[in-house]
Formats: sequence, C-alpha cells, structure tokens
Amino acid sequence: MKHLITLKDWSEEDILGVLDLADIIKKSPEQFYDTMNQRVLVMIFEKPSLRTRISFETGMYQMGGHAIYYDMASSPLGTGKETIHDTVKTLSRYSDLIMARLFAHTNIEEMAQYSDIPVINGLTDFNHPCQILSDLMTIRERKGELKGLTLAYLGDAKNNVTHSLLYGCSKMGININVGCPKGDNFSPLRVVMDDCREICDKSGAVVKLANDPFEAVRGADIIYTDSWMSYHINSKELEDRVQALKPYQVDTEKVQLGAPDLIFMNCLPAMRGYEQTADVIDGPHSVVFQQAENRLHCQKAIIVKLLKEFMED
Ligand code: CP
Ligand code: NVA
Repeated sequence: MKHLITLKDWSEEDILGVLDLADIIKKSPEQFYDTMNQRVLVMIFEKPSLRTRISFETGMYQMGGHAIYYDMASSPLGTGKETIHDTVKTLSRYSDLIMARLFAHTNIEEMAQYSDIPVINGLTDFNHPCQILSDLMTIRERKGELKGLTLAYLGDAKNNVTHSLLYGCSKMGININVGCPKGDNFSPLRVVMDDCREICDKSGAVVKLANDPFEAVRGADIIYTDSWMSYHINSKELEDRVQALKPYQVDTEKVQLGAPDLIFMNCLPAMRGYEQTADVIDGPHSVVFQQAENRLHCQKAIIVKLLKEFMED
C-alpha cells in the first residue's frame, strides 16, 4: 500500500504525478467537488499547525469529504493508554486516510506499518514531504521547469524541511547548496546527505554543503529558509541559536547575489528579523503566500492520488 512518509520512497514519476494533478485541481477545482464523497480523513496532531491543518480540512470539504481533527494530547494514544498499533487499526475501520503530525519519525513509520489505509506524514522532526511537494509546484509555476535550477537553503539545516527539500530537489534534478554553521548542530543528517548524493548520481543534480552563506547563494534561482525555532526546539535555546544562525539570515545583500529573477521561499511560520529580514519576506522576490496557497491544491492531489492507488490495489 502506498503512503507518503518520506520523499525518499517516492519516485520522480510519483512526484510529477502529484504536481500535474495539483495544477489541474488549482485550475478547475469544480471538477473534483465530488471526488471525496463520503470519504473521511483523520488528522492526528501532536504539534501546532495553521497551514497543514486548515489546507487538509478545507481540501477534504471542497472535494465533498470530511476531515476530523484529532488532538494527540487528549487521545488514549497521547496519554499512554493505547498503542500506535491499536490506534491505527481502529482508525482503519472508520476512515479512509490518516494524516499525522508527530514528533518522532519512527512513530509515523509505525503507523504506516500497521495501518490498513494510506498514511500521510504531515511533518515529523525528520521530514515534511507535503510541504516540499507544494513547494515544487510553486517553483515550477514560477520558473516553468525544475531540472537544472539551483536552490540555496540558508539557516538551520538539521531540519525536517531541509531534509525533505534535499530528497525532493535531488530527485527532480534541482541543485541544492545548503548554507549552515559548521558542525552537527545545524547540518543536515549525514544519512540524508548520503542518500541524496546517490539519488543525484541518477538525476544529475548536485548537492553542496557550504559554511559560507554568500558562497551558498551566489547565482541561485531560489533562496529558501525555515524557522530557527522549529516546533520541537525548546524556547530556552533561542539566544544561542540566534547567535549561531545570524550570519545565515536571508537579507537584501544575499538576495542580490542570486539570479535577477530569484524567488525567496519560506514554508511559514516565519519570524521577521530572524531567519529573514522583513524587507525580504515582504519584498518583490517573496512567494511565501503562493507557497501557502499551493498547500491546499497539493494536499488535494496527494489525497486523490493515494486513495485512487489504494482502491486500485
Ligand atoms: N508550513 C507548515 O507546515 O505550516 P503549519 O505548521 O502552519 O502547518
Ligand atoms: N521546521 C519547522 C517547519 C514548520 C512548518 C518546524 O518543524 O517547526
């Protein structure tokens, strides 16, 4: 059964399938008004969310289905009274799809292992595949193609969004320069870098790690950054992280080193004055709200694809 747990498991063809479908859905949403008739998506949340929660719920509603918000904290699972196994086996008897936003990636893997219906990763500490599918959609809308572009990621790169960007871009032939402080605290996990170098051997993309933020952004088509204080980071770490990450803040000087038609991306939520300056995120290069909008079209495409393949199985 096909799930969406990490883009590592999805082929270039799978990814293109979602992007093409999302384009059609965006253009003609009315064609899909009945596609999820009588279908139910259960959304398990262990962390906060604006975009993921609302885009999945709206997406199901607009396609004639229903989405249930299920708060992990007040569930038998979250209070230690029930196992992942029994939770997903039970949900499989009521609903058609499960989406979960969790801390530990191993927990979503366990959900997928035992679930009798498709499971979607709505973000774990390790990965955020739904975000990157819709980002690829946004990049293609803006640039007309994916292969051969260069994306520079600046900031905290030991990060779910960075890891999924690395998988998604290397699969689709987008070169990535990661600019982050030296050392394990802020660098992508080695296993992801190793996986991506192997993927790049096939796709022709190049992945580079740079500690000099100016070198990372030179000539880039896209600059991407993400929160310095991801949901799972303790607020006590703020001061130390700001100090370490400040040289990687996306500001006008760095944007000017990129291609003239550079786009600036951030999955949001964003903090002005931290991972980027206000003039960049609110300026002419920024596409952050197009990214946010595309979450809706892309979630619909993910749901439609997974359910269709499940029914055909
Ligand atoms: N980008 C994103 O996933 O946003 P939320 O945390 O608001 O869902
Ligand atoms: N890296 C961020 C992404 C938020 C969508 C986090 O985990 O909080």
